[in-house]
Amino acid sequence: MALLFLPMPGNEDMAARLAANTGGEVGRIEVRHFPDGESYVRVATPAEDRNIAIVESLFNPDTKTLPMIFAACAARDLGARRTGLVAPYLGYMRQDARFKPGEAITSTSYANLLSHSFDWLATVDPHLHRIKSLSEVYSIPSVVCPAAPDIADWVRASVNDALVIGPDSESSQWASQIAERAGCPFVTLGKTRHGDRDVEIVCPDLSAWANRTPVITDDIISTGHTIETVLKKLAAKGFPPATVIGVHGLFAGDAADRLRVAGARAVVTTNTVPGPTSAIDISGALARTIAPFL
Ligand code: R5P
Repeated sequence: MALLFLPMPGNEDMAARLAANTGGEVGRIEVRHFPDGESYVRVATPAEDRNIAIVESLFNPDTKTLPMIFAACAARDLGARRTGLVAPYLGYMRQDARFKPGEAITSTSYANLLSHSFDWLATVDPHLHRIKSLSEVYSIPSVVCPAAPDIADWVRASVNDALVIGPDSESSQWASQIAERAGCPFVTLGKTRHGDRDVEIVCPDLSAWANRTPVITDDIISTGHTIETVLKKLAAKGFPPATVIGVHGLFAGDAADRLRVAGARAVVTTNTVPGPTSAIDISGALARTIAPFL
């Protein structure tokens, strides 16, 4: 039987796209809050004997995780054959080490929590740095959809003579793939993070690419400080305004405004996090990635 996509609130568009791309069906989960703040969750589509994919993009994960886990538990109780999670953005991947004594390594704790509640996981470009693969922390089968091909196609169609720029060594994994498919050069800069809103960027000599149009690409735009610092460095070197591309546009606080003020020509993201910038649709690629679970 067709995969039944159950969107958590706010994920209806992605669920519909995934269903259309896989021949699946879309069902309904109701979520509301009791007067005391506790969550009420109801799987409103029959789940018995179904293969289910709960769809939830896990930005702002603290408020979303508990209702999502209740939905997964309910689906299992109701007799679902398998209950997977499609999380176009997977939160809690960045605290992957203990930098100060006593810190919680939340990437591991969060993975344990989700691994107990779901049978499989699909996501788009999780933030893999010290953790090299999701299977190091998730004990359930997982698949990763790369956003680079769709981003590269957007760059090729939208920017002439692009130079893809990754803000730090971690970003070379995305920047190199995007540049290769878009048929343009790429460079990665050096980043030192001193705090949540304090990053230092070191640029190599970029004079060889002075006639190129800069396209800054990163996996996550959160506070925007990383990209803002790169925009300022490139402007100081005389480059024309850069196009900014993020896989996941979280835009915490005033991030969007600061990128505009710092001179971004355009800010574009994929639709792993829906919003005004999410012009690059990765649902087709994500649907292909979940084929093993259909
Ligand atoms: C970090 O390593 C990521 O790849 C991003 O560079 C980072 O999450 C961006 O954060 P922010 O927008 O807060 O500078």
